[in-house]
Amino acid sequence: MRVCVYPGSFDPFTIGHLDVLRDAVKLFDRVYLAVLVNTQKKNLFSIEERLDMVRQVVEQEGFENVVCDSFTGLLVEYAHRVGATFIVRGLRATTDFEYEFQIDAVNRHLAKDIRTIYVMSSPAHSFLSSSNVREIAYWQGSIRGLVPAYIEDKISERLAKQ
Ligand code: PNS
Repeated sequence: MRVCVYPGSFDPFTIGHLDVLRDAVKLFDRVYLAVLVNTQKKNLFSIEERLDMVRQVVEQEGFENVVCDSFTGLLVEYAHRVGATFIVRGLRATTDFEYEFQIDAVNRHLAKDIRTIYVMSSPAHSFLSSSNVREIAYWQGSIRGLVPAYIEDKISERLAKQ
């Protein structure tokens, strides 16, 4: 059985993430969509809130081979725990390459049996990032079409409270 982890901060999960997930569900028998803590980032939503959001998206999309989960710790340890031998990550531009190159080097050092594969984002979404979405929403710009509808509502609710 081909098992992968699609990890990320997903704060929030965007349409670009959904593109990558759509490819992953076709390539793998089981995909663990894992919301992980990135210690380098300040978050808008808690892990539990992000997990709830990705669960809603997976249910709405009808992906039957996706398990939504969260994990605090090393990604490769999580991959071992769930029996995944591949990690899936999205790539948008060369700036992503530098970042991903370093993550891959660390993960290879930690676990020689796990490999990362990369899905190139569609050109229409090459500008899209969670931080851009947070920034646009913060300044009351429209994020319609950049995140799934359920998540758009959650972002509006959160910012209205702030
Ligand atoms: O969506 P992000 O923030 O770019 O995802 C980065 C993430 C969460 C996959 C990465 O920070 C990660 O794997 N964190 C878990 C801790 C870990 O394993 N660190 C070693 C690799 S840098």
